Amino acid sequence: MSTNTSEYLLEVKDLHTSFFTDSGEVKAVNGVSFTLKPGEIMGIVGESGSGKSVTAYSIMRILADTGRITGGQVLYRGEDLATYDNKKMAGFRGKCCSIIFQDPMTSLNPVFTVGSQIMEAIRLHTNKSKAEVKARAIEMLELVGVNEPAKRINQYPHELSGGMRQRVMIAMALACEPDILIADEPTTALDVTIQAQILELMQDLQKRLGMAIIMVTHDLGVIADMCDKIVVMYGGSICERGTADDIFYDARHEYTKGLLRSIPNVNNSKERLIPISGTPINLLNMPKGCAFCSRCDKAMKICLEQKPQEVSISETHQAACWMNIKKMMEEQAGGANA
Ligand SMILES: Nc1ncnc2c1ncn2[C@@H]1O[C@H](COP(=O)(O)OP(=O)(O)OP(=O)(O)O)[C@@H](O)[C@H]1O
Ligand SMILES: [Mg+2]
Repeated sequence: MSTNTSEYLLEVKDLHTSFFTDSGEVKAVNGVSFTLKPGEIMGIVGESGSGKSVTAYSIMRILADTGRITGGQVLYRGEDLATYDNKKMAGFRGKCCSIIFQDPMTSLNPVFTVGSQIMEAIRLHTNKSKAEVKARAIEMLELVGVNEPAKRINQYPHELSGGMRQRVMIAMALACEPDILIADEPTTALDVTIQAQILELMQDLQKRLGMAIIMVTHDLGVIADMCDKIVVMYGGSICERGTADDIFYDARHEYTKGLLRSIPNVNNSKERLIPISGTPINLLNMPKGCAFCSRCDKAMKICLEQKPQEVSISETHQAACWMNIKKMMEEQAGGANA
């Protein structure tokens, strides 16, 4: 039993993660910080390669062999996960924090029935009897909306549809009622109707079980309605954060504005999708200034030279963009001259 009184379930402080490859050090996560309270739903959004999954894997400490956390801390209920030994870390995974992986086919083992895989997840973290474990697996499948669960547990992953496999993944992740669920693009491979069903289901479970959720996605539209707060990632860093309203109606980073423009608009479906122009930065050779500056229409000289610090636009809203800093300085100067 932890004696810790931290109000946060999870605190990520200045996290840095790199992969050491033959071509050099790939700096995938560069100084990410955020907090998560019990029951809170946070979205992580960003283009492909922005470091969303690596941030999630760093929290769970499930990086590829070449990957290493090179700086910062991850605290769970105030305890630094770096101090956990392998056994304690294995207990953390699944029981305290579990993850729905981006691709269900790579995380479900094709040679075992789905039932045996869910039961294994339950067995690892509880002292339930064999019959109880089986009953729990069936109950979990029912909970995530899998029809005929008693029959399904004897089926193999390839016998299920994509949507069903995704539900099985969710059942596995939720089997031990974790405090934190990380859902890494849980719906990208699915068609729109099933996407909506799964998102609804996750919100329902969040309400019923009170867990916190980190929703990872490249699609801002998907998470708009469900998140208490959203962080926007680019080049392994958070460039903007705020409530859904802050991000949708008052975006202060050109990259966020670009992401918003790339969402298909339901009210005006004739409008073309506008992808953000330019290519993502080379993580092997990070620029000196703002990571987004080579793709930013509004870039100034200072953007090339110095990294912008995160500044507060309001209590809930922060952005790391020189334009905000410039504007604030001008306002202050204006105020001083008045
Ligand atoms: N094992 C690895 N070795 C080298 N580089 C890696 C490895 N895993 C990830 N990376 C690099 O780290 C960066 C961040 O990757 P990450 O998977 O976190 O992106 P992402 O935001 O999840 O993107 P997506 O939306 O495509 O899932 C990418 O440039 C990726 O190429
Ligand atoms: Mg990813």
